Amino acid sequence: MASGGHALLKDKKGIIFGALNETSLAWHIAESVYREGGRFVLSNSPVVNRLRTLGALAERTESSIIWADATEDEDLNSLFQETLKKLGKLDFVVHSIAMGMNVRRSRPYEDLRYDWYQRTLDISAISLHRIVHAALETESMNDGASIVALSYLGAQRIFSKYSEMGDAKALLESIVRSFGYRLGKRGIRINAISQSPTRTTAGSGIDGFDALYEFAEKVAPLGNADAASCADYTVTLLSDLTRMVTMQTLYHDGGFSNMGMSDELIVDLSKARS
Ligand SMILES: NC(=O)c1ccc[n+]([C@@H]2O[C@H](COP(=O)([O-])OP(=O)(O)OC[C@H]3O[C@@H](n4cnc5c(N)ncnc54)[C@H](O)[C@@H]3O)[C@@H](O)[C@H]2O)c1
Repeated sequence: MASGGHALLKDKKGIIFGALNETSLAWHIAESVYREGGRFVLSNSPVVNRLRTLGALAERTESSIIWADATEDEDLNSLFQETLKKLGKLDFVVHSIAMGMNVRRSRPYEDLRYDWYQRTLDISAISLHRIVHAALETESMNDGASIVALSYLGAQRIFSKYSEMGDAKALLESIVRSFGYRLGKRGIRINAISQSPTRTTAGSGIDGFDALYEFAEKVAPLGNADAASCADYTVTLLSDLTRMVTMQTLYHDGGFSNMGMSDELIVDLSKARS
């Protein structure tokens, strides 16, 4: 085990989807899971292979990489089969995957390209269904396993520039509930972590991201939650300490989601008016 951990995930094995580079939430999650004694396979889309970024994380966390497009059932089935051979049955899966096709190309919500919209939903939400389906088909999951998917408050509230991604996250969170009921019979848990705006490749692809980040920073009593704290929170959900928590959207946002107005923002807006 790496130094500094509490062995919260000792003997636990899993797959972590979505580490792209050092800013990725999944990158930090992999480091925290490793620190706590968990072992895992890293997976990402085959196109990421060209960037040659993931090797360093794999080396640091003694893990292997298996490429799989999360919208391709065949890729996912062979990923789970290969992982079964490497690690045996799994105790956790982390879904940290998203892509807003229209958002990326600044196409407004009123005028979405529907083929892109469908791709957005497939990559960012239906992929969770496909992953759980593949895990069940290949009989890869231990009873009592834990699944975590990363979400955002845009699933419930309108953040104008989040556009189609709000729909994708609403679907993602619904899949969490729908599977949560069905997996509960085996003690398998599935939850969504609704994370603060975080400076990552996906985050920065949203128009006005810096304004959104600053706004949330000024409103949240604890400020924005960073990627490292998100990773630690994920560890708790993968651990047995939270074994009775399932079907939830859990806000990891420094308190932002329960706020309306803050003194800090009032001061700022007053300055802007004077
Ligand atoms: N950054 C934020 O502000 C923020 C806030 C809340 C939630 N989230 C969520 O966190 C998750 C991780 O995003 P991130 O911010 O770390 O950005 P990121 O860009 O580092 O991660 C997104 C990942 O999705 C992967 N991906 C895209 N298409 C794929 C496909 N077809 N198959 C497999 N993988 C694919 C990318 O390769 C990348 O690794 C996403 O679900 C995102 O919506 C991010």
